[in-house]
Amino acid sequence: MGPPFYRLRYHTHPLKTERYILGTTITTAVFPVAGRGTRFLPATKAAAKEMLPIVDKPLIQHAVEEALEAGARTLIFVTGASKRSIEDHFDWDPELERALLESGKHELVELLRGMLPADASCVYLRQGEPLGLGHAVLCARPAVGDAPFFVHLPDDLIAGQPGCLKQMADHFRNQPHSAVAVETVPRDKTGSYGIVAVEDGTGPRQVRQIVEKPKPAEAPSDLAVVGRYLLTPKIFTKLAATGRGAGGEIQLTDGIADLLKDEPVYAFPFSGKRYDCGSKLGYLKANVEFGREHPEVGTAFRAYLDEL
Ligand code: G1P
Repeated sequence: MGPPFYRLRYHTHPLKTERYILGTTITTAVFPVAGRGTRFLPATKAAAKEMLPIVDKPLIQHAVEEALEAGARTLIFVTGASKRSIEDHFDWDPELERALLESGKHELVELLRGMLPADASCVYLRQGEPLGLGHAVLCARPAVGDAPFFVHLPDDLIAGQPGCLKQMADHFRNQPHSAVAVETVPRDKTGSYGIVAVEDGTGPRQVRQIVEKPKPAEAPSDLAVVGRYLLTPKIFTKLAATGRGAGGEIQLTDGIADLLKDEPVYAFPFSGKRYDCGSKLGYLKANVEFGREHPEVGTAFRAYLDEL
């Protein structure tokens, strides 16, 4: 088997980059959603943390909408125990629709039917063992195949116009290489993130080094990877050879560090605001800020906050 088609075209016909770019819409997104969300217990004892709502829309639906906006149509969920509600959420529910129609709630039926476009499909895979984010992404390999793809971590909610993945997809058209979304974090927080060292300059820049959760004193910078990745399929070969790293887990960061030896990887400073919805404080902030802008309750909620 030769190299993947898109790489073949890029590497053997650099002058035809434009044709390659025009031909390369990223159509697959992977959502690693196997984690148990222990930080939100007891809420997450029987429910998926990705189903926690921001006002009235679950985190996983925010994630899917961002991926759809960026052109993804194959939505791959890498799931685990207690995650059935995610499958149900994106499934057709004829009984609910019938009940809503009978009570005249047509607009709610429209809302449910509009959640996914007709040409989107959902694939659910189980991550057999909780071996880490890199392992979760590797589990998606048979469903992704030999094309570049997005990885979206729903805990990181990003409000942006357009969304972060769309910004990254647009960048990919000019720089058809892997990319990780980044933002600056306080030095004392480097131990919570993948941290990158990049080339000098501004805007998207090539990554020189990437390290998973370094201590502040050892961190190569304060530029942190947030939960959006655009990866070429070569990452699978790398992840398959990646041993356990930080926390005893197979880290996506370590796979990317290996990928860097063969291919450029870009650090992409997205525009938008990130909410760390894997933490209670970040989740509350997101609810307050989305609540303030909500078309139905925003005005009343803002008035309530002013009173407070
Ligand atoms: C994961 C990644 C880390 C990245 C972070 C972004 O960590 O391993 O490199 O910076 O997501 O949210 P986690 O938050 O799952 O521990």
